[in-house]
Amino acid sequence: MSLKLLANWKLHGSKSFYQNWFAAFNQSYQGSHHDSLGIAPPAIYISDIARYSSNPGIAIGSQNIDQFSSGARTGEIASSMVKDAGGLFSITGHSERRMFFNELDGDIAAKLDLASSTSLLPILCVGESREERDQNKTEKVLEMQVSNVLRACSTLHSLTIAYEPVWAIGTGVMPEPEEINSIHEMIKDVVQSRFSNIHLHAVIYGGSVNLENSQSIFKEKEIDGALIGGASLNGGEFASIANIFNDLKGL
Ligand code: PGA
Repeated sequence: MSLKLLANWKLHGSKSFYQNWFAAFNQSYQGSHHDSLGIAPPAIYISDIARYSSNPGIAIGSQNIDQFSSGARTGEIASSMVKDAGGLFSITGHSERRMFFNELDGDIAAKLDLASSTSLLPILCVGESREERDQNKTEKVLEMQVSNVLRACSTLHSLTIAYEPVWAIGTGVMPEPEEINSIHEMIKDVVQSRFSNIHLHAVIYGGSVNLENSQSIFKEKEIDGALIGGASLNGGEFASIANIFNDLKGL
């Protein structure tokens, strides 16, 4: 699957919200295909939106799945249920999950394994904190996050990684595009050299991506796409970012 541009709606939306979203998206989108686009809505809407979005054909996925496939886990959603509802991918290990729901590397590895075994494309999020960046630990922290999670996986065979500096999420600030590019190169090196049995589809960037800065990001060779929060809530803006993406990546 070539998912490259993902909308993370977080805890936003309603039926009327997504109906308006698709109307605005369809009005602005100029591409002839939708293979690289995905939306992760709140899980309760996955099934409805998966039906709604089959034309234009945007993939739908979840923002999270549980680390167990079933059981006494009140409030949780299993990977197989996301699949059943029409989902095609799942975000795992988003920094908000790590921060607010105490997710650890071992939990995230179990989620990656489960997503993969139920044929959902897993998107693993990694990213350094402001403090780690200020102490020049960015590369080391990312290397550890990627290695610790992938080492703890047993059945994972392919994934996409989203590089999301925690300090850049929802703040309007981000690293220079050249810096993101070299970090993506490093992440690709780590996966290819240490986990040759795992196929890395893409490394995408997330953190304050919007219409104004998307061009400078997509110009970089190793930035394969983006995970977009705030700016993805506007269907027209998401479509315009996708237009820029298609132009620059020759799609
Ligand atoms: P943002 O969020 O685009 O609002 O910074 C990105 C994310 O958290 O995935």
